[in-house]
Amino acid sequence: MTTSNEAGTDTPRAALVVVANRLAVERTTAADGSAGWQTSPGGLVTALVPIMQAKDGAWVGWHGAPDEELEPFHHDGIDMIPVALSAGEVEEYYEGMSNATFWPLYHDSVAFPEFHREWWDAYVAVNRRFAEAAASAADDNGTVWVQDYQLQLVPSMLREMRPDLRIGFFLHIPFPPSELFQQLPWRRAVLEGLAGADLVGFQVPGAATNFLNLLRRRLGWDTHRQEFVRPDGSRGRAAAYPISIATQAFEDLANSPEVVERAAQIREDLAAETVFLGVDRLDYTKGLRQRVRAFGELFTSGELDPEKVVFVQVATPSRERVEEYKRLRDDIELLVGRINGDSGQLGRPPIHYLHQSFPRDEMAALYRAADVMVVTPLRDGMNLVAKEYVACRSDNDGALVLSEFAGAARELKQAWQVNPYDIDGMKEAILAAGRAGKQETRRRMRALRKQVATHDIDHWAETFLADLDAI
Ligand code: ADP
Ligand code: G6P
Repeated sequence: MTTSNEAGTDTPRAALVVVANRLAVERTTAADGSAGWQTSPGGLVTALVPIMQAKDGAWVGWHGAPDEELEPFHHDGIDMIPVALSAGEVEEYYEGMSNATFWPLYHDSVAFPEFHREWWDAYVAVNRRFAEAAASAADDNGTVWVQDYQLQLVPSMLREMRPDLRIGFFLHIPFPPSELFQQLPWRRAVLEGLAGADLVGFQVPGAATNFLNLLRRRLGWDTHRQEFVRPDGSRGRAAAYPISIATQAFEDLANSPEVVERAAQIREDLAAETVFLGVDRLDYTKGLRQRVRAFGELFTSGELDPEKVVFVQVATPSRERVEEYKRLRDDIELLVGRINGDSGQLGRPPIHYLHQSFPRDEMAALYRAADVMVVTPLRDGMNLVAKEYVACRSDNDGALVLSEFAGAARELKQAWQVNPYDIDGMKEAILAAGRAGKQETRRRMRALRKQVATHDIDHWAETFLADLDAI
């Protein structure tokens, strides 16, 4: 339920406020200059939309366009409260500190993290703005749930501004081993920032343990099991809550007549005996270079017959102004072009590469159409694509090749698990998954589906919020 705030302005106040860098939708501008909305990219938005549609809360976040102030609005069943960012802040806080420092550092430094003091200053200033927006959006004694690495200082800032609130934090990406975290010049501020939350959630238990160890060793705080004690004697908790998807909704979508028909059409258009599929944001953590190289070698050697097999790689545009992402796009496009040039025939490229965003029903049709889904990140907090594929396979067919280094590997044990750095091992797993008999594929898929059905996004949100409530 939203009400107006004490100042009597129209800013809605809600009992539950989610704060994330991104709103569920981002601002788009058409060729004729008219403004519109499209779903924001990434797993955070996928996971939170169904929760926020079901709960009567408010979502504080950035709408994706620089230098634009917007009033709160209602979209797709959710109250949105936009936070404005200037072009300079987009550069320093979002592209810089968030996506060229924290993102690579927290993903095992698979790309080199850059440390710049002016980026940090922008990060602090923008975190304060989000904290202020959340503070004015939350009802007395309400709950604020802060999301992800872009907003790690918000919990402690909010705690100071509004001691009446219950504050949760969830990190959607990995939390690094302490050896890496300690490189961060602002490590103390980040630890204190996160520990402002009553409950700090991570994707996997090892991440929570790393965080608690750092509180003990770097800040000298007492910790006991999952609990930590702040210098003022107050307590918080850190634990794992593996995130998931709206499993049933995905399954229903995949079984709708339109999606079934579209999947059949995709199969017909591809005219292949076996379809392999990859779906990722075009991000260097996703292991695309290694994956495409593995397919290239399999096509060249003839172990995969380019006349009978296709590999479809959807690479969603992402963070296109950040240097590492530009380099990655160039590398992948060069590699795909080379492989198609070497192994393709007229009208039959072995790799179909799509640098595009698709609506949800098209994604479900692609998942339905694929025989083998290949998800091989070098490091990933969870990876929802793997879970979405499983949700869409209600016939219990379809094989999943999954990196050991995705958070999802802890739950999806019956996938063909691979070390994405081991290209030969990955090639073997790709071949084994493609050649597996119906019986083996079904046995594995049944077990995967059971896991994803019982651990869906409602389970995640209810468990986190119940634990937060109990503190
Ligand atoms: P990340 O959060 O790192 O992007 P996830 O696998 O956890 O990775 O989540 C990605 C989400 O983005 C999934 O819900 C997936 O369906 C969606 N997605 C990925 N690529 C596309 C695309 N081209 N069009 C539409 N949605 C996409
Ligand atoms: C990952 C992050 C999210 C982020 C998403 C898309 O899922 O965990 O916080 O929103 O990627 O990235 P972008 O930079 O476009 O928001």
